[in-house]
Amino acid sequence: MTSALVFLIVCLLALTGCAGSGASRADAGATLAPTNLRCEYLVNPTAIDTATPRLSWELRPLTPGTRGLSQAAYEIEVFTEIPEKASDPQKAVLWTTGKVASGETCQIEYAGAKFAPGFGAKWQVRVWDQAGRVSAWSPPASWTRGLTSKEWEGVRWIGDPTPAPAGFGELPAPMLRKQFAIPASGRQVVRATAYVSALGLYELRLNGQRVGDHVLAPEWTDYTKRVQFQTYDVTAMIRTGENCIGAILGDGWFAGKVGLAGIVPKGPPRAIYGRQPRLFMQLEVRFADGTSESIVSDDSWRSTIDGPIRTSDIMDGETYDARREMPGWDSPGFDAAAWSPVRVCEAPTATVVAQPNEPVRVNRTIKPIAITEPKPGVYVFDLGQNMVGWCRVQLAGKPGETITLHHAEVLNPDGTIYYTNLRGAHQTDRYTFRTDAAETFEPRFTYHGFRYVEVTGLSTKPALDSIVGCVVNSSSPEVGTFECSEPMLNRLWQNILWTQRGNLVGVPTDCPQRDERCGWMGDILAFAPTACYNMDMAGFLTKWVPDTRDAQALDGRFADFSPHPYQPDVRFSGVAAWGDAGVFVPWAAYQFYGDTRMLAEQFDAAKAWIEFIHSKNPDLLWKHSRGNDYGDWLNADTLKLGGGAGWPAKGAEVPKHVFATIFFFRSTQIVSEMASVLGHTDEAKKYAELAEAIRAAFVKAYVQADGKMEGDTQAGYALALHFGLIPESLQSAAVDRMVDRFKPYDGQISTGFHSTLPLMTQLSARGRNDEAYRLLLNRKMPSWGYEVDHGATTIWERWDGWVEGRGYQDPGMNSFAHYAIGAVGEWMYGTMLGIQPTSPGFATVDIHPRPGPGVKWARGSYHSIRGPIVSGWERTDESMMIVVSIPPNVVARIFLPTKDVAKASIDGKPLAECKDVIVQGVQDGSVVCRVGSGDFVFFVAR
Ligand code: BGC
Repeated sequence: MTSALVFLIVCLLALTGCAGSGASRADAGATLAPTNLRCEYLVNPTAIDTATPRLSWELRPLTPGTRGLSQAAYEIEVFTEIPEKASDPQKAVLWTTGKVASGETCQIEYAGAKFAPGFGAKWQVRVWDQAGRVSAWSPPASWTRGLTSKEWEGVRWIGDPTPAPAGFGELPAPMLRKQFAIPASGRQVVRATAYVSALGLYELRLNGQRVGDHVLAPEWTDYTKRVQFQTYDVTAMIRTGENCIGAILGDGWFAGKVGLAGIVPKGPPRAIYGRQPRLFMQLEVRFADGTSESIVSDDSWRSTIDGPIRTSDIMDGETYDARREMPGWDSPGFDAAAWSPVRVCEAPTATVVAQPNEPVRVNRTIKPIAITEPKPGVYVFDLGQNMVGWCRVQLAGKPGETITLHHAEVLNPDGTIYYTNLRGAHQTDRYTFRTDAAETFEPRFTYHGFRYVEVTGLSTKPALDSIVGCVVNSSSPEVGTFECSEPMLNRLWQNILWTQRGNLVGVPTDCPQRDERCGWMGDILAFAPTACYNMDMAGFLTKWVPDTRDAQALDGRFADFSPHPYQPDVRFSGVAAWGDAGVFVPWAAYQFYGDTRMLAEQFDAAKAWIEFIHSKNPDLLWKHSRGNDYGDWLNADTLKLGGGAGWPAKGAEVPKHVFATIFFFRSTQIVSEMASVLGHTDEAKKYAELAEAIRAAFVKAYVQADGKMEGDTQAGYALALHFGLIPESLQSAAVDRMVDRFKPYDGQISTGFHSTLPLMTQLSARGRNDEAYRLLLNRKMPSWGYEVDHGATTIWERWDGWVEGRGYQDPGMNSFAHYAIGAVGEWMYGTMLGIQPTSPGFATVDIHPRPGPGVKWARGSYHSIRGPIVSGWERTDESMMIVVSIPPNVVARIFLPTKDVAKASIDGKPLAECKDVIVQGVQDGSVVCRVGSGDFVFFVAR
């Protein structure tokens, strides 16, 4: 115990002590430092569309672990960055709040002077603690306003003039360039900013160098409605004299394969939004004398398709012929006489908006752990981790020789790669050598889901270090940690995180490898809270929640996936637990970030969804109009365990009308709660009454007097209990039935995408926590342990992705990186560690860890919008230790696992002797204490 204790405390202090960047020197006596200043969730964002962005900060205790710190007041100052104003203190101040008596640290709306798009502000904050001690001013942070449609006037959409081939044939990637001069007229450049968008993807180049580190930009939106632009500070890249700006364009989601392209009956195989990519950009150069010049995409640019990228496609891969490289094409002085004038295209219907989310980037690289040669000349690299992105290759061949890189998640028994489950996504890159020296290749306009890379076309065996895996995902900050005494669970947690990384590429996708990669709504509905514990999803969801509105059908149906590249009123819309993501996901964001603006923007869409369901089901049971009606997807009825293995062939799946009505109820209830938050009292009442009526109809129709539900499934009880549809008097009977339903399944789980987390949560919350641990630690299929034991490094789509003796199941539907069943991550944070918000944005939290058999200790943390929250525990036969850290300004209830307060101690003393802990009583079999910020180590004798 002693060494583990020391270890836990060291970890805890390390976590809390280094939570932020250093502020300027504190005033004497100060206790707090405002840190991690953000605007609209981003650190120093360079393009914010709204004139009234929201500011936030965290509070770092100057002495780590200090107890009972809170913010009593704050003061914000905002200054203009416009040079001539900045030098005049009178004119420079845009906003000063004075001392505001408030504990708020986030979602504080800027209410200062408006300033022009393209210009920025610097801001700082200081705070007073509970004893009136003022902090130092924080180091300054900044934001810059994005451009409105007015600033885009005169900018044209340009592309290569070569007509697209008939049918759906592909064209090489266009390269576009323009040379321009910044005369040495004595005007000094103070800032140069590139604002760039495209239909398709772009890589921007300036004076021979790549601009920025975004990849796969702009990310996928409904290009008929909204397309994002990115902003880059290129001041250091601009020269006096001749300059050259260039762009390479890829087909991307706009013109390549997208969504279910190719498998949708009668759908086009690719190019759903358009045939050819186009660039839209402006480079604004500002001079010290206050003047500025813009270089924009227009008819003065030139283009060629004779460059090295011969084809590129998100799903299929990239074909690169290095012999066609044109050194210097993106620098001044290159002879582009053979290039053609660009084609100026019609402007799309889409609005061009600033990117509100962290960009997709190469966020890490990994090295292969092995290389094999299962057939002569066929080399298979093993990255050791199922990942998403591409390979950076350094290899040598002969001029004109081509190597092929084929990417796959798993292997065949003979060691070759297994790609049947990729369906129509080829995931193949090809590279043709230019010289006989070693050359480096990294594709630009594709991404792959893979652990293994098969390389062919080489005449000698490559070295292990000749490829590197570039891991590509939206760079939403990772904010969760988890570790426990059971290695399998640590791997499971890693697998969940890796699966999330791979499925956040601007859109929360179902999978990153086969020919889908869609923002499937049901998957993110199930996974959103886990996603928020793992990563700061606020910026990401600020981008994606509008995608759900863009995809909504006119009659109120949310789509099955968003963006939705098909006619929304015709197909893939209106499914229970998929469409409901349009309600559930912004509500989850509200729980995690306290974001009421996102709720306000989504409110009408959410109401329209409820109204649609209600209009088709006036008797309040969702029996009609359920679209493709996926139900509790991939539950045990779809496993190959039926019959022979002692399992019933059917009967695990909660009946679809029961399932749908549960979601109808919960969405209606959330809409009522949204209305309350937004102050729409009448609507709050209206939807609360509707929800009550749905609940009553549900109970009447589907729940018997003895608590037995229609279908009598694990999943049905779990969902109905989880969302509060079972009357109190029947809840314990329903729990008994739920547990009884393990019997036909040999004691195992039989739930699907939507009921697995509810099952775990309800077991733990309703006195069957040991059962939850038993399921969690199970190693027999279906279980998480089975996947881990069989080499999974990401979460499988199906419990039976690979079956001993039978191999890979159902190649049409067998991804090895699907996060839905990884929603158990929410249970790991929220139940096992017990970190739960009790008010939006974690202003108040419960720390209610629930240890269980098979796990001796667990620890982890969640870095909330208000700072890091830590929970850890360790059990021995004699006692249990609970370690907690709470950031300043957050109030927590700690649940100690005893009913007897005399058995609990802190700092080696009875609880009553600690002034920082207020014992509130016994609840749910636990002594409950209230604490403010600080580090706490409790012991409970067993
Ligand atoms: C996807 C799922 C999705 C489903 C709808 C599948 O093809 O991969 O994850 O939610 O379709 O049932």
